[in-house]
Amino acid sequence: MMSEYLKNYKRSQEEPEAYWSDAAKGIDWEEAFTKVLDDKNPPFYKWFPDGKLNTCFNALDRHIENGHAQQIALIYDSPVTNTIKRYSYKELRDLTANFSGLLREQGVRKGDTVIIYMPMVPEAVIAMLACARLGAVHSVVFGGFSSNELASRINDAQPKVILSASCGIEVNRIIKYKPLLDSAITIANHKPKICIILQRPQYEAALIEGRDIDWQVASKTAKAVNCVSVNATDPLYILYTSGTTGKPKGVLRDNGGHAVALNWSMKNIYNMNPGDVFWSASDVGWVVGHSYIVYAPLLYGCTTILYEGKPVGTPDASAFWRVIETHKVNALFTAPTAFRAIKGNDPDGDLIKEYDLSSLQSLFLAGERCDPATIQWAEKKLNIPVIDHWWQTETGWAITANCIGLEKFPVKHGSTSKPVPGYNLEVLDEKGEQLPAGEMGKIVLKLPLPPGCSQTLWKNDQAYIDAYLSVYDGYYMTWDAGYIDEDGYVWVMSRLGDVINVAGHRLSTGSMEEVLAAHPKVAECAVIGVYDQLKGQLPMGLVVLNSGVETGQDSIIKELIESVRHDIGPVAAFKKVIILKRLPKTRSGKILRSTMKKIADGETYNIPATIDDVEILCEITNALKGQT
Ligand code: COA
Ligand code: AMP
Repeated sequence: MMSEYLKNYKRSQEEPEAYWSDAAKGIDWEEAFTKVLDDKNPPFYKWFPDGKLNTCFNALDRHIENGHAQQIALIYDSPVTNTIKRYSYKELRDLTANFSGLLREQGVRKGDTVIIYMPMVPEAVIAMLACARLGAVHSVVFGGFSSNELASRINDAQPKVILSASCGIEVNRIIKYKPLLDSAITIANHKPKICIILQRPQYEAALIEGRDIDWQVASKTAKAVNCVSVNATDPLYILYTSGTTGKPKGVLRDNGGHAVALNWSMKNIYNMNPGDVFWSASDVGWVVGHSYIVYAPLLYGCTTILYEGKPVGTPDASAFWRVIETHKVNALFTAPTAFRAIKGNDPDGDLIKEYDLSSLQSLFLAGERCDPATIQWAEKKLNIPVIDHWWQTETGWAITANCIGLEKFPVKHGSTSKPVPGYNLEVLDEKGEQLPAGEMGKIVLKLPLPPGCSQTLWKNDQAYIDAYLSVYDGYYMTWDAGYIDEDGYVWVMSRLGDVINVAGHRLSTGSMEEVLAAHPKVAECAVIGVYDQLKGQLPMGLVVLNSGVETGQDSIIKELIESVRHDIGPVAAFKKVIILKRLPKTRSGKILRSTMKKIADGETYNIPATIDDVEILCEITNALKGQT
């Protein structure tokens, strides 16, 4: 008999329209679609092109209509403010409808963009859903980004309104968001007319008259509004992410395909049932937060947890176990870094034994490559399935996973299991030829991508083609390298291009190089991602100073570190700079970043035949001694 996974996978490939049409029954449509896939304009595809729906209705209102008004939709657990707050589906819907009313009063209409720059507070979730309710397009910017990064997103998204808060709280430090927002608006060319600011008791921000509105005060008089029907293909959100080069890319998510795919994933990938408690310990500023803190659990009628804390330090390495016990969490989703941090603080897992974790059925990891040792530690200590699955901001949900809701496969530590139904994955060589099992190459996805995946970039079809579709005709380039083994398991080994992954956060080394190069005393530079036991990778700057700059090198290093923190943000975790006499290059002048990375990681490397100066490699080896 054919396995459940294989049955699903085959059908998703052979009859994709029938497959996703069935999955779409899990969503309430305002107007039913008559066509499943519009493929008339390749390489652009549209799922459910003539369907109409509202994502917020599907995430909130329909559960109330179906008798679940009192079920808990959202639990806010904040060790940094010592708060636990529960919101039923009705409470969350009412707050959302009210906030939509406030947005509408401020002129926000279907298709308008709204930037959300907020910490992990319930109002951030309400803000996202309120935009969806109006058919407005939200763009959440992670709080760890600087004013400059926020400004570049403001310029690209052109928001009518910005939603923010007075501050965030990082363990025990108050991060003042409002001054960062003010300076971002000063830098940006586009000036939003209105900012709605949530004043938190930890810090009261000064409001600018005529532009800033107090969130709580204005909400008191706002009138609740109903859901606005939108086309399935209308945008739900933009999420900026680091690309292979240059400025952040505005990944665009539609309403219909997104709702169908995420709703489908909750059962088939995560094996959840409506009413279960799903906890994604991420941040709403990342795609994992969009999909699995906010949209998927609510679409499926689960209880979701919004956790304003860290895996360690709030207060210690038992933080996750306390949350699981308190809220009877059924599935946890986090980044491997979080588990490495817990393991580093409590290697024997002694704290785990102090909590009742009997509700927890499975642990899902994603965001970066997970080292087998961390998975094995989690398996041993928690005694539940630990599933490493692979995806990207662009796809919005897993490309490969052990789909335990369909059928659980044996785990191969280090592999992210098999392609999820809907994804047609191949590994290609430089010429575009498919590689045999076990051979490393570029991982690509055959077009069309399944529902839920970004089918273009915000107002920039050409940039989408250039970034993802131009390498191999008919394929989406994931920019990840890896292989498929003889059993069909996918092994995602490394990232191509200039993107690195720091604590599950995707960052561009190219942007960091731009910041370093702007220093008046820097002649040239390179930034590489070096191995780090906790965060997976950390950026390191290799810098050549202008000739004649002999003194004050320590203060230049400090200035460079400060510039990256200022221009990109603390999330870059840029703390290492090495000054060299010159950079290793090929004779044609290409900087040998991958060779330097191998030296820094202590890996063996071949001396490139085209290198112009071999001695520099010894100099780098010496300079890196004791640095990594
Ligand atoms: N607002 C403002 N600043 C933020 C921030 C936010 N939302 N999030 C992080 N920062 C700051 C931190 O305070 C830190 O600043 P510092 O250099 O002044 O200390 C810096 O950005 C780096 O933060 P972080 O990556 O969180 O590192 P950390 O050393 O504070 O904590 C871990 C280490 C492992 C605990 C943390 O990285 C973690 O929880 N990782 C899980 C990763 C994750 O959830 N990824 C989501 C993708 S699935
Ligand atoms: P982001 O878009 O920020 O979620 O980052 C996506 C990138 O993170 C992918 O392209 C991979 O390089 C990496 N990644 C995410 N999940 C995994 C995983 N499970 N294993 C290996 N790499 C991963």
